[in-house]
Amino acid sequence: MTDHDQRYSKAVETDEEEARNIKPPYQTPKGVHDILPADHEYYTFVKKVVRHRLRQAGFRRISTPIFEFTDVFTRSIGAASDIVSKEMYTFKDRKDRSLTLKPESTAGVVRSYIENNMQVLPQPVELYYIEPHFRYDRPQKGRYRQFYQFGYEIIGESDPALDVQSIHLAWKILDDLGIAQIFTLQLNSIGCQVCRPQYVTVLKDFYFGKERSLCAECKHRIDKNALRLLDCKEEDCQILAQIAPKLSDYLCQECKQYHNDVKEFLTELKLSYNENPNLVRGLDYYTKTVFEFWDRTDGAQNAIGGGGRYDGLVELMGGPPTPACGFAAGMERIIANMKREKIRVPKKDDLHVFVAQLGKESKKKCLPLIAQLREAGIKTMGALGKGSIKVQMRLADKFKVPYTIILGLTEVREGTAIIRDMQVGTQKTVPFEDTVEEIIKLIGEEKRDIYSPGEAIY
Ligand code: HAM
Repeated sequence: MTDHDQRYSKAVETDEEEARNIKPPYQTPKGVHDILPADHEYYTFVKKVVRHRLRQAGFRRISTPIFEFTDVFTRSIGAASDIVSKEMYTFKDRKDRSLTLKPESTAGVVRSYIENNMQVLPQPVELYYIEPHFRYDRPQKGRYRQFYQFGYEIIGESDPALDVQSIHLAWKILDDLGIAQIFTLQLNSIGCQVCRPQYVTVLKDFYFGKERSLCAECKHRIDKNALRLLDCKEEDCQILAQIAPKLSDYLCQECKQYHNDVKEFLTELKLSYNENPNLVRGLDYYTKTVFEFWDRTDGAQNAIGGGGRYDGLVELMGGPPTPACGFAAGMERIIANMKREKIRVPKKDDLHVFVAQLGKESKKKCLPLIAQLREAGIKTMGALGKGSIKVQMRLADKFKVPYTIILGLTEVREGTAIIRDMQVGTQKTVPFEDTVEEIIKLIGEEKRDIYSPGEAIY
């Protein structure tokens, strides 16, 4: 555990201890939480991996607003879906317009594609996002009311190779994060507007007379969203789903060929998959390919991510007929898995140096010294309060810095500075003007944290 981890987990522990006695007057609402600094190291790492892989594949980043007109989601995700019927944070603005916090990003990206006339760009348009999303889910492990997703969409072309590319990219990202091996790729085709309606009729016929064996929710699903009967988690519903007619037997020739090509290309990329005839996904916009990454032990319960093809969505949202596919994954679940697998991420927050001072004169010398150290890429914390040297040294200890620079009255008078090695407990006096150089030597040139955005601007 790094210094920051320790500091913040200590703070959290203390908070928890206190909370046992007195509840703080303000707390986060149920299902949402702070991302504390130690966790941000994971978020930063995941974001870097995602950005790197997607940039490599020609994707560009997009952010759609946190809230949109409610219709954007109702129309695309489907009124009968769990998300729209139970999980949206919907509110009225001051002019009585219905707005909703985004529960996912595909709908917003498609709205943006149409609104910004992206069909005139070279196709397919490849976009990715890393955004917070909001669902009024029942909070539990891996299920939050605010959560982060990274995701991407390939809009404007239909080809099994593109579906496979989305899957491969997701796998690559999980592999970079060190967790690909704990997931299985679940794959299915849910057909298209031509073949699916016929299958839905067959499915409804199958469930006719069996309603009593279904959970309350599935009883409603028969009429409203029959495909979802196949992926209900209730035991009795699952038993029926196992013997229900399979969509694969009803796919039209085109969908069948498409699905076979997807499988052939996956094999070409050596991506193993599990054909799962009951995988239907919870959003209405999908056509043909659907896929999810399931935990090898927990199964569907904590899918890390999912996606698929949605060839009718752009048109449904008022654009020209435009095929598309995409994927999104939950970052909290990814990070929980990385921690479970004991995967450590680079720690960039640890400090190099603590600067302790005594009195106004030394403070005057400290301020430019701190600025110079930081400029030189040395992560520096200055104790600029009024504490005694002893108090400041104790603070330096708590921050677990490798070195402390001490500027007392004598040092100021003599034009020197003391550099203390905090681990060994030794110290040496150096000429004040050599302090930065000395520290760089001690820390190591390669450890400097240098970023010059100014040089990149043109
Ligand atoms: P989704 O399956 O609804 O798909 O969500 C994708 C991932 O977001 C889930 O697999 C899960 O990891 C995470 N997630 C969902 N809800 C929660 C929650 N309440 N708490 C924590 N994590 C959660 C979509 O959102 C589609 N837009 C994916 C897509 C993109 N399809 C095509 N393009």
